[in-house]
Amino acid sequence: MKGSQANPANHEAPDLAEVPHDLIGSLRTIVGVKNVRTGAGADVDPGQHPDNLGAGIIVSPGSTEEVAAVVQLCRRHGVPVVAHGGRTGLVGGGISRPGEIVLSLARMSRIERLDPVERTAVVQAGVSLEALQVAALEHRLEPGIDLAARGSATIGGMVSTNAGGVMAFRNGVMRHRVLGLEAVLADGTVYSDMTRVVKNAAGYDLKHLFIGAEGTLGIVTRVVVKLDPTPRATATALFGLPSVGAALELIRLALDSEGGQLRAAEAMWRPYIGLAASAHGWAEPGFDLDLPVYLLLAFGGAREEILRAEFERLFVELLERHPETIGIVAGSKRQEEVLWQLREDTDVIYRAYEAAPSYDVSVPLSEIDTYVERILAGLSAIDDDLEPYVFGHLADGNLHIILNRQGPLPQPVAEAIEAVLYADLAALGGSFSAEHGVGSKRIRSLLATADPGKLNLMMHVKDTLDGLKLMNPGKVLPLAPLPAKDSNERGNPSDA
Ligand code: LAC
Ligand code: ZN
Repeated sequence: MKGSQANPANHEAPDLAEVPHDLIGSLRTIVGVKNVRTGAGADVDPGQHPDNLGAGIIVSPGSTEEVAAVVQLCRRHGVPVVAHGGRTGLVGGGISRPGEIVLSLARMSRIERLDPVERTAVVQAGVSLEALQVAALEHRLEPGIDLAARGSATIGGMVSTNAGGVMAFRNGVMRHRVLGLEAVLADGTVYSDMTRVVKNAAGYDLKHLFIGAEGTLGIVTRVVVKLDPTPRATATALFGLPSVGAALELIRLALDSEGGQLRAAEAMWRPYIGLAASAHGWAEPGFDLDLPVYLLLAFGGAREEILRAEFERLFVELLERHPETIGIVAGSKRQEEVLWQLREDTDVIYRAYEAAPSYDVSVPLSEIDTYVERILAGLSAIDDDLEPYVFGHLADGNLHIILNRQGPLPQPVAEAIEAVLYADLAALGGSFSAEHGVGSKRIRSLLATADPGKLNLMMHVKDTLDGLKLMNPGKVLPLAPLPAKDSNERGNPSDA
């Protein structure tokens, strides 16, 4: 998603009745009057999910100490705390309800240290990915992770959701970019491990508990991010291919390239690129949009001409094996941006189908072709007109699937669709949630598919770290230990 997308239609002045009044006064004492915003006065962009600000109160601490004081205070009052980063999450992990408070990390947006020799950055949780990318680039470095919501997504939020994005196939996901972190625990104490080195084998590596925990085990307040050298030049090309197999061959060739370092391999199946191209009025003479799958590749290296020549060479090599292949190489930065916009502006789907149901699966590469064939057949068996827009991070097997339907879907239809999309995924070695997390929207799927031993251990961890269930309750895990089917989510998050 690009930046933050508000849904103003649902942004009503929330009901504060359930938050104790003296709590609000004490919160103001901790963070300052202007940093506690309530009701209509909050007037803040709710971000991806219309219910993100359902609590009606946003508290914005300016330091770890203030976060800890807020958490302690809320604990004394038994008030749940929902941590917010850039509100770009897609699975309702940030939704909040009356009686809870939203704790926004927005004011903690300082890059405390950026060391080009160590190749590390120490940042507060509210620093946006883009701000870190820009600061690192001054030293010819990069955080090694990139995603479309870079302008709004925060490092703290990306840690909390274990974000992935386009470079994961080579650099890993957020978990692999974090050297150390600090988090405020449910009891208001601070877990501090601001390690700035890659190697640290001193006991359990507990920072990983907070990475991907979506604020349910503590609130990430500061992070040490590993930086990598960024190439001097980049180039982008778009290929149209006769099959997924051909796309995977192209990725193999590109990974083997001597001239360029592959930085992205983003796939778009025909319906998606067709919609994106027409929404943006994009067309290139001779570049047809009627092939089954398209692949956007980015190379990094020493010089643009070398990288462009390398794309030409790959094209010729692929043509020998797959004569239907077509390709264009961006000849300027502007053209590069236009090609990337086709892939990154996934809002084109939501403009066509409001709150369209979306899914985020991981499929081992050798299974992708069969998987896509199977879901297309399975979805059209549910409804002839059901056609998914499929696109995603092909080099690591992460596919995004968005349906040509307005959401949310009636529950039985939603379940039938999930049965098709998630069938056998775990057995195949994939996942029903690749990079968007569980939030409130995917709890049912987690309960339905997770190994019981894993679920049990997850609940133990939750009990140990947050026995009172005040940290982002009802996210990742259900509120009640043994939920009846379908009743594991409070509120009514839409299926957007
Ligand atoms: C993307 C988001 C949907 O890859 O993860 O565009
Ligand atoms: Zn993605």
